[in-house]
Amino acid sequence: MRAFRTSVVVAVLGLGTALGNSASAGVVGSQHDLTAGGQGQGSTSKTNEVCVFCHTPHGSATNAPVPLWNKVLPPSGGFTQYSTLATPSFDASEAPVGSVSLACLSCHDGSQAMDVVINLPGSGGWNAGGQQIDTAALGAMTGSPVPMLGKDLTNDHPISMQYGGGGALATDADGLFAGTLKDPDFKKPVKATVNGQPVWWVDSPIGASAQREKSDMVLYARNDLGTVQPFVECGSCHDPHNADTKGPTTVAFLRIPNTASQICTTCHSK
Ligand code: HEC
Ligand code: HEC
Ligand code: HEC
Ligand code: HEC
Repeated sequence: MRAFRTSVVVAVLGLGTALGNSASAGVVGSQHDLTAGGQGQGSTSKTNEVCVFCHTPHGSATNAPVPLWNKVLPPSGGFTQYSTLATPSFDASEAPVGSVSLACLSCHDGSQAMDVVINLPGSGGWNAGGQQIDTAALGAMTGSPVPMLGKDLTNDHPISMQYGGGGALATDADGLFAGTLKDPDFKKPVKATVNGQPVWWVDSPIGASAQREKSDMVLYARNDLGTVQPFVECGSCHDPHNADTKGPTTVAFLRIPNTASQICTTCHSK
């Protein structure tokens, strides 16, 4: 954890220098900013709290492991998952859509208004079922198949599935990945233990190696297939706060620029 914090500080400082300490570096002013100062789909002038659309300091949703989540999470069973496309090459086991992916899909599935939150800005506005910050200005996300992915995930890169083309070998059932992955076409993940819980990531060419950083492909520990093991989720490739990581296209919120498809080749040996 210490290494993670250190590297994040270094990254932030580096960014501050490069951009002359510009306040726009990050989520403020980005497409994930639904206030008047942002570039989201529509905006409200009823609040200028950028984080409240996703996080609340108190009374957050806890039915998926997402930090201080302020939105009602969609039911995990309501999605058509990638495996149902039945491509002959897909050999990972899926769990129901969960983890951080459910948080992303609480907007990106288009089923509820983007400003439905559990705890409204200010006092006295907590409601487990969620309520809108501004019924007049903001509705559900539009634009299918992207940015509004919808409930059918068969046309999206698979998520909520085990890493490594079917996980670790049986000799490595605890998911330490000391051995070989079932599918040798995947890069070996790195494992560490934080607060007694396993964390995994795949080291990207950006930043230091063997250190968990925001610029690595983060894998999410899930215990839905009988053993705790690393999963690929939306957050493996995306950082929802970092609007500066773009390139070679203009799509924001990537963990690293996808120059020469380096996001893809961090995990896939291709
Ligand atoms: C569009 C939704 C969204 C907005 C807006 C947003 N976050 Fe987040 N945030 C997330 C998600 C999703 C995660 C979980 C990421 C993960 O698990 O990889 C997260 C995780 C975090 C974390 C823990 C992990 C990390 O990256 O450090 C912190 C701290 C955090 N957010 C702070 C903030 C603050 C402060 C703001 C406002 C300035 C903010 N967030 C705005 C979606 C959002
Ligand atoms: C509060 C609602 C909300 C949540 C939660 C949310 N998003 Fe978004 N996201 C948006 C909006 C609004 C846009 C802008 C869509 C547009 O430009 O038409 C957007 C755009 C994006 C884009 C495209 C950016 C671009 O430059 O085109 C990506 C990538 C993205 N989101 C990923 C994520 C991921 C990954 C998560 C979860 C970690 C997430 N989002 C959670 C509302 C949300
Ligand atoms: C965080 C790691 C990770 C990253 C980054 C990643 N993938 Fe994957 N990808 C996987 C895993 C795991 C599977 C499941 C493969 C399996 O088990 O058969 C997969 C599956 C696939 C499949 C095959 C699905 C099938 O039906 O067999 C394709 C194609 C693919 N990815 C392309 C990409 C592309 C293109 C990128 C970059 C935009 C990318 N991947 C980035 C981990 C990753
Ligand atoms: C395996 C990596 C990977 C995973 C997993 C992944 N994405 Fe993406 N996503 C990308 C890349 C790479 C791009 C940028 C494509 C480009 O630059 O053309 C992207 C683009 C997007 C865009 C903008 C697309 C557009 O054309 O406007 C949205 C929105 C988005 N992702 C949301 C999500 C959500 C929500 C999830 C989880 C359900 C998710 N992504 C899972 C790699 C991934």
